Amino acid sequence: MKRVAIFISGGGSNMVSLVDDMTGDHPARPCLVLSNNADAGGLAKAAARGIPTAVVDHRPFGGDREAFQAALRAELDKAAPDILCLAGFMRVLTASFVTPWRGRMLNIHPSLLPKYRGLHTHARALEAGDAEHGCTVHEVTPELDEGPILGQARIAVNPGDTPDSLAARVLVQEHRLYPAVLRRFAAGDRTPVAL
Ligand code: GAR
Repeated sequence: MKRVAIFISGGGSNMVSLVDDMTGDHPARPCLVLSNNADAGGLAKAAARGIPTAVVDHRPFGGDREAFQAALRAELDKAAPDILCLAGFMRVLTASFVTPWRGRMLNIHPSLLPKYRGLHTHARALEAGDAEHGCTVHEVTPELDEGPILGQARIAVNPGDTPDSLAARVLVQEHRLYPAVLRRFAAGDRTPVAL
């Protein structure tokens, strides 16, 4: 059985979709939910599900990313995960953290990568006049929102869509895609998922 740690920063709806799928014949179980933000709503959702939680606030570290990442590593060492999932974790992780996790660390991003790395993905898809939009789960590499794609889910962009309406429809797809990818990935299958 693989052990999965999940990093969040906010509401944690993707974390919940992952955790709630990790039952029965799923090849993994959650071992830690960690947030850089003590107010993250996802922490209570994880605790209510009996999952150990931790907070590593980035702010006391100032701009010292290496020290922040050392504190993250200390929590991971205690939980001993096999797989690390970023699920709305809004801090950039540098190569010194990411490289040792190569091939064992996933992220979900709200665009059809390689389009729209970074922030404001829904507004950017609308501004570009895209006919379709969606989300991507990928392996994490040191370059932001790069790394091998493990799955994508697509939605049509409708006339009258706003960034908020797109975000809401993409989020529904995120909650389908991420669990589907993690199930395969934890079983050693990196065949991309297409929804
Ligand atoms: C999700 O839409 C996720 O794709 C996005 O943040 C949201 C978190 O929601 N992630 C990023 O933008 C990462 N760059 P959640 O806390 O409810 O899962």
